[in-house]
Amino acid sequence: MNIDVRPSHDAEKFLATDQLVWFAEVTDSDAALLRLGLPEDQRFVVDLPDGPEGLHSGIYGVRPMEMSVPGGTVVPIAGLTWVGVHPDSRRRGVLAAMMTDHLSRSHDAGLAISALHASEPGIYGRFGYGTAALTHQVSIGRGTTFTAPQLEDEVSGITTHVTTMSQPGVAERMRACQLAHAGDFPGTIVGSPDFFSLMTTEPPEALRDKERRRVLFACRNGGDVGFVGLRREHKWDNARPSGTVTAGMFCGGPAARLALARRLVDIDLMGTTKLENIGVDDPLLGWVGGPRGTGDLQTWDSTWIRLVDVDAAWPLRSYDDDCDVVVEVEDRYAPWNAGRWRLNASGGEGKATRADEDADLTLDVNVLGAGFLGHGIGGLLRAGLVREHRTGAYAELTRAMRTLVAPEPSIGF
Ligand SMILES: CC(C)(COP(=O)(O)OP(=O)(O)OC[C@H]1O[C@@H](n2cnc3c(N)ncnc32)[C@H](O)[C@@H]1OP(=O)(O)O)[C@@H](O)C(=O)NCCC(=O)NCCS
Repeated sequence: MNIDVRPSHDAEKFLATDQLVWFAEVTDSDAALLRLGLPEDQRFVVDLPDGPEGLHSGIYGVRPMEMSVPGGTVVPIAGLTWVGVHPDSRRRGVLAAMMTDHLSRSHDAGLAISALHASEPGIYGRFGYGTAALTHQVSIGRGTTFTAPQLEDEVSGITTHVTTMSQPGVAERMRACQLAHAGDFPGTIVGSPDFFSLMTTEPPEALRDKERRRVLFACRNGGDVGFVGLRREHKWDNARPSGTVTAGMFCGGPAARLALARRLVDIDLMGTTKLENIGVDDPLLGWVGGPRGTGDLQTWDSTWIRLVDVDAAWPLRSYDDDCDVVVEVEDRYAPWNAGRWRLNASGGEGKATRADEDADLTLDVNVLGAGFLGHGIGGLLRAGLVREHRTGAYAELTRAMRTLVAPEPSIGF
């Protein structure tokens, strides 16, 4: 069956479909959050002929975002989000039609990369997305010591200041700071000004018994050099205060992050600091002496990357090692990528050209997405997810794509 995907012309119906799929509390603020969260021309819908009354069969949206890649360049990406299929329309190919539509629209718009955060594990690999960045969630106790002798001089010039995220001007400061540091932490995803307003907007229903989200800025010579968002929660154990402060992504260089981390473990009435988004090679683990220096550490997938356009994406980033491999790329949903490519990296620069030679490797385009930000993909050969026709070709590719430190995770979008 040919399923038509078209732009949304009915914000209320789009929202109502989303509310059914995601079954959260419906509030008066939802329409305003949709306005900030998704540009009107980036909402798309499917209406099956026998679809549900008054709702769409499927919806999706795209957030225009930017992402830093290895080498430090910041490139535009499509942030795929708000994906939902009506429960009565599921498993009939609605998502497959929406993904095909998304890839061809992004391709036409000249975007080389699409990114997302996944819900269930089985969904996005088949559409060519690979897990490109992992994230740690770490709990540490009040007063944890951070040891970083080589950073102390720099840290001594940094002060930290708490403010409320929703205050005028704060979203703009956060975005400017994140953009300024994105190049040093490849994998950083920076949202549009509207996306930052969305993050800093907290309607009353979202608060109830919670405090407003705060932000801790790190400043040097009067300018912002980093920040971290946080929220405190009271808890009393046997009449003693043992609250939890939950912090989001750190932004800034290592010294700013150290100053912020020290402040986070020294907040009155708190017993635990929960850090929700720590990169796999984040300096924090080094400062506390590794996972054993934490109270708890969990790991899961953060950003998923999809190369919308292999030959446009490949040269956007830099490469730590050289490679010259002919790869047979399998790509069911973006057929312009399918076929043989010579993927070359030389002196740090990448070039992808069509190839006639026999392939050294056969792999799904999701493997190139998984390695695009520098995350190690060497294990996929052992896992039987890549076919190697020339011994050593996959090692050559993975060494070139891997970066010295693991990519920065991104906040959920
Ligand atoms: C996930 C969801 C969007 C799938 O939509 P759908 O229209 O049922 O998917 P399709 O019928 O197009 O399925 C396409 C393929 O993906 C597979 N698939 C779909 N959802 C899957 C899932 N959750 N897990 C594993 N495979 C899945 C289908 O079996 C099908 O496989 P095939 O190509 O081998 O036949 C839908 O179930 C949904 O809205 N779920 C709740 C919200 C959600 O999780 N959204 C994703 C946000 S990140």
